[in-house]
Amino acid sequence: MPLIAPSLLSANFLQLQKDCDMLNSSQADWYHLDVMDGRFVPNISFGPMLINFFRKATNKTCDVHLMIEEPERYAEAFQQAGADIITIHAEACTHLHRNIQQLKSLGVKAGIALNPHTPVQVLSEIIREIDLVCLMSVNPGFGGQQFIPHTLVKIRALKEMINNSGSTALIEIDGGVTLENAPSIVAAGADVLVAGNTVFKATDPVATIAQLKKTSAA
Ligand code: DX5
Ligand code: ZN
Repeated sequence: MPLIAPSLLSANFLQLQKDCDMLNSSQADWYHLDVMDGRFVPNISFGPMLINFFRKATNKTCDVHLMIEEPERYAEAFQQAGADIITIHAEACTHLHRNIQQLKSLGVKAGIALNPHTPVQVLSEIIREIDLVCLMSVNPGFGGQQFIPHTLVKIRALKEMINNSGSTALIEIDGGVTLENAPSIVAAGADVLVAGNTVFKATDPVATIAQLKKTSAA
């Protein structure tokens, strides 16, 4: 069964307590928290202050996805705010290996996210150092976009790299995950499904999370 990581980007920010209560009562495994800086992506979301509120609202794993330039400048602030996992974009890091070491020294799990155009092969020399790979299945910046089908090819290639290297990294898929495409995503090798609109725009989000959770490899 996949881990389910609802993206709070699609929550109703006028009733966050209610949405957190809903998630806490659900089978969601992680809170997926999308940080955007208006430079790396064409949108601005929220920062450490809000993440600290989420930290206090839940005991679930806080999975922080940094869509920001120079993530090394902010990694400590997000760790202090309560992140359990910090994922940084390969495209935003000149010294990716150094930045991963920084995350480890902060005591958080270290993730690397790849945009749709970035081949998984960029991870070959670092795959054993990381805890998570987040494959973007949309171009980052906004919730509610369409899943890019080629992601399935990338998942299979990444799974093979992970298996061959002895890495324990989890594969997380982020963007456009629906009840319809989840089985093929899990069948390709995904371990974690991020879901924003599919969860928060559902008439019954708790049931939708349970349905996603039940997804088995088709
Ligand atoms: C996109 C974010 C995603 C997004 C997912 O830049 O990283 O986490 O919120 O939302 P959906 O599931 O609606 O595509
Ligand atoms: Zn995300």
